[in-house]
Amino acid sequence: MPQPPFVSTFIALALIPVAFLFLHAFLSGWMRWRYHKVTGAVAITWDLVMSIGYMLFRSFGGTAGGSQLDPTGGLRAYFIAHGMIAATVMVLELTVLVLGVMLSRGMRSGQWHGKLSKVLFPLWWVAFLTGELFYLTYYIL
Ligand code: HEM
Repeated sequence: MPQPPFVSTFIALALIPVAFLFLHAFLSGWMRWRYHKVTGAVAITWDLVMSIGYMLFRSFGGTAGGSQLDPTGGLRAYFIAHGMIAATVMVLELTVLVLGVMLSRGMRSGQWHGKLSKVLFPLWWVAFLTGELFYLTYYIL
């Protein structure tokens, strides 16, 4: 079993609190609970910092498990699907954040904040769980 790279362990652990924040943000938006804006903004900012940070790290030559790995077949398809979902999530996060800020400032943004967050929420979980599943099966189990 390969030794997990520090960056992969860091991200796998650092995303766990985001899962709770995302869950709270989604439910609180729906149920009109308090602190919706806080948990939503922190969840999105934290997640974007992790994703963009990881991309920059890899772009500047940082290595993680994926670079020693030469995925083929099903594993390659898994990585491609995971990467495409993660990229879509980043775009949706930025959009939901901007629309949420507009909404809270009384600006018109139609129903798009609520509608897009209903797409973002399940997609975020797919991106999160496929990433965590790979980490667990490849490095830990
Ligand atoms: C993970 C991030 C977020 C998710 C999943 C989320 C989700 C939601 C959902 C499901 C609703 C209810 C929409 C509806 O009833 O159709 C909502 C409402 C709202 N959200 Fe968010 N949201 C997030 C972040 C934010 C942020 C960062 C802000 C502002 C800075 C914000 C501001 C608002 C406002 C002002 C409403 C309307 C609440 C009301 O009418 O009482 N949201 N959000």
